[in-house]
Amino acid sequence: MINRNILTLDEFTLQQLRNFPKATGELSRLLREIGLAAKRVNVEVNKAGLVDILGDEGTTNVQGEEVKKLDVFANNQLIGVLKHGISCAGIGSEELDDIEIFDDELSNQSKYVCLFDPLDGSSNIDVNVSIGTIFSIYRRVSPLGTPCTKEDFLQPGRKQVAAGYIVYGSSTMLVYATRRGVNGFTLDPQIGEFSLSHANIQCPKDGKIYSVNHGNFFLYNSGVKKYIDACQKKTKETGGPYTQRYIGSMVSDVHRNLIKGGIFMYPGTTDKPNGKLRLLYECNPFAFIVEVAGGKATNGEQRILDIEPTELHQRCPFFIGSENMMAELESYLEKEKS
Ligand code: AHG
Ligand code: MN
Ligand code: MN
Repeated sequence: MINRNILTLDEFTLQQLRNFPKATGELSRLLREIGLAAKRVNVEVNKAGLVDILGDEGTTNVQGEEVKKLDVFANNQLIGVLKHGISCAGIGSEELDDIEIFDDELSNQSKYVCLFDPLDGSSNIDVNVSIGTIFSIYRRVSPLGTPCTKEDFLQPGRKQVAAGYIVYGSSTMLVYATRRGVNGFTLDPQIGEFSLSHANIQCPKDGKIYSVNHGNFFLYNSGVKKYIDACQKKTKETGGPYTQRYIGSMVSDVHRNLIKGGIFMYPGTTDKPNGKLRLLYECNPFAFIVEVAGGKATNGEQRILDIEPTELHQRCPFFIGSENMMAELESYLEKEKS
């Protein structure tokens, strides 16, 4: 029996407002809009295989639009809901070279800007493996009433007001964090609503899962290599060997480790010292979520949330997970430095 008394995403965000009589409800509206885009993306993700079978490339769909790649579809959905809403002054996206400033009277009065990776793990779409969406929300620093500016987006991650992700997995889940906590909502397909299924998520302090692309092993620095070696060994301190799990969709990999305990790494390599993942819409939102849940996130030298961004699409090495596993990793990185 499905419990129909659990709070939906909208009900939950409205409940939160009750505790803050001065709140304007703008953040709740933003989350509702992102939830709507996620539901639309979810429908497309679920029929991704069918579209390939039923629609020739270059054909048009019922709305007369060209059948687009899913990440472009997701990008357009997110921009659409945020542009039509009245809580977001502009967006930054993995799919766009530059920020998009909404610049209309209502949007210029909005206090938030939003950054997102519309579809994360998109190489997994064709093979029916979990993918996701990531988002990050900042209060703008430019004056209300004017168009938002690049500075609104280039804020350190610790300034995030909220961050979240959607995982399109065996069920579809939206997880979001504010400073007050991390909560997870599972899409109830019968009523088409995200419903609170994982209240107050805490990242276990210890874990037994490590997630890294082993194919790059010989391109990592010696500290990372030694830590990975240790993950595969039985030691008294760690209780290893750990289990290796790597989906190749960061959203799914970090989601699993957040719930079960574990560490996810995308280190720099000899050819790409800054790794692959993007600071503003991949690393920062996850660093915020995992820290609020009690875990840690660094670039190997510095807390992710303290990095002062200089560019919209900048990349950084990324290590994130359970507190004690992160401490162990850091001790290996430290030893190799000296
Ligand atoms: P995106 O699909 O948004 O480009 O991101 C894919 C990312 C991330 O989700 C994943 O952890 C990583 O790429 C996997 O990269 P490798 O195949 O190099 O391991
Ligand atoms: Mn991505
Ligand atoms: Mn992407």
